[in-house]
Amino acid sequence: MTMLLDCAPLERAVEEALDGGDQQALHVLGYGEITSVLAWPNATGPWACKRMPGFDSVERFELFRTRFHTYADALKGKGVDVLESWIEAVPAVDGRLTAYVIQPVLEPDSLAPAVLARSSPEEARTVIDAVIDRVFAVSSPTVGIDAQLSNWACIDRELVYFDLTTPMLRDDRGRDLLDTELIVAFLPPVLRPAVRKFLVRSILDQFFEPRAIALDIAANLFKERLDECVPTVIELANARLTGVPPLSFEEARRYYRRDMRVWGMLQTARRMDRSWQRVLRRRHYRYLLPGRIERPV
Ligand SMILES: Nc1ncnc2c1ncn2[C@@H]1O[C@H](COP(=O)(O)OP(=O)(O)O)[C@@H](O)[C@H]1O
Ligand SMILES: [Mg+2]
Repeated sequence: MTMLLDCAPLERAVEEALDGGDQQALHVLGYGEITSVLAWPNATGPWACKRMPGFDSVERFELFRTRFHTYADALKGKGVDVLESWIEAVPAVDGRLTAYVIQPVLEPDSLAPAVLARSSPEEARTVIDAVIDRVFAVSSPTVGIDAQLSNWACIDRELVYFDLTTPMLRDDRGRDLLDTELIVAFLPPVLRPAVRKFLVRSILDQFFEPRAIALDIAANLFKERLDECVPTVIELANARLTGVPPLSFEEARRYYRRDMRVWGMLQTARRMDRSWQRVLRRRHYRYLLPGRIERPV
């Protein structure tokens, strides 16, 4: 790809925000569960830059970049429109490389949750049907997708996928091609060994199976306060699922409650780790953290 963006000034702005603890200078478009998405150079973009954890070598970064493009191509090959995206790396103050995934900033109105919030039930159904359709077209033992509504936009009435920071690919023997340390890196060091050993595999597994992906989509609608769309997701997913128990509203609700508890605990652990690193060990903490995420219960 020929596009280029010098991310050094952005990385400096992030470092300054981290040093001063002041994140006001940055234009945060969103916090995913693991990345922070920053508009650059202005609040309206034109670029949305997703800051990845530090890479300890150029080789490791290049492998991520290769996997990223392989993943985007795999999705396109299955008929998914993918937002144009590329990756830049800049040296970080701790001697590592910071990678940014860069995309055009999307209109807030075009994000799927906003679209559903203002749609009639019929229009919402069309959008949800298109998402479920993509889930069943894409997911396989070798290609995964995190298809929750917050990862899609509706542009010119077409559905576009933009959450590419975790390229979920596996080889024919089921081994992750994604550098799973990228997921582990966001966690406090004390939690990493256990997560590596017991959790990473099962967290990722969910994104390769259509039933689990659909359940996650349904459950996340509670978070987006789009409860009224949950039955539609369940109905349209059940219509396509075969050989597995059908999904239910109650299951989605239970899953959401559990998910909320687990992520809540993780974010608390990350904030505690930040205080520990900064105050007690006087170390630099390298991640921007969201404030407390407000979630309906
Ligand atoms: N290109 C973009 N333009 C505008 N907002 C975006 C863009 N990319 C992400 N966001 C916002 O940031 C949130 C998190 O981004 P996402 O790519 O889904 O990262 P994560 O992997 O952390 O979920 C999105 O749900 C959306 O609200
Ligand atoms: Mg996302």
